[in-house]
Amino acid sequence: MENLSKDIKTVLVTKEQIAAKVKELGAQITKDYEGKDVVLVGILKGAMPFLCDLMRSIDLPVTLDTMCVSSYGNSTVSSGHVKIKKDLDKDIRGKHVIVVEDIIDTGITMSHLVPLLKERGAASVELAICLNKKERREADVYVKYVGFEIPDEFIVGYGCDYAEKYRNLPDVCVLDHKVYTKA
Ligand code: IMP
Ligand code: MG
Repeated sequence: MENLSKDIKTVLVTKEQIAAKVKELGAQITKDYEGKDVVLVGILKGAMPFLCDLMRSIDLPVTLDTMCVSSYGNSTVSSGHVKIKKDLDKDIRGKHVIVVEDIIDTGITMSHLVPLLKERGAASVELAICLNKKERREADVYVKYVGFEIPDEFIVGYGCDYAEKYRNLPDVCVLDHKVYTKA
């Protein structure tokens, strides 16, 4: 990743560390949800790499669905406003939902989404989040499955973007400041 690496300040979590953690989370989910009707709800687009890896480490007949909710646009600051841009394809009534997301920051997005999915009649709703930026939390949200605790830095890679770019970096990285000052 020679071209993309030029815009990176540091690597926070390597692809090997991610792979090991995903295996652990998948094993935990397999144990916790045995015999239950599970729907993995991936939040587009950031959750895609994590969703693809996590689902293959879960040894249960899960189904998949996706949602797209508005987040940061092209800025590095949260708007605090959540809008559904693409809704689920299937009814989740009576299903055990696991929302799969790349990163939780202020928690505002998930604090809106979890009650909404519960209102729709899901049997349970839990969160599986790859990266947790706890220091910046504004809304109180319970996250059952966490990949990594990360500091308050702007992250790209493994699904996380800056202006829709860098999602394809295999590691979790801190973006170099020169990239936003250029924009
Ligand atoms: P929250 O509502 O503040 O928790 O923000 C959640 C969403 O903001 C995440 O799903 C990401 O899409 C985006 N986000 C938060 N922090 C970062 C970051 O450091 N890099 C890229 N996207 C981020
Ligand atoms: Mg997101």
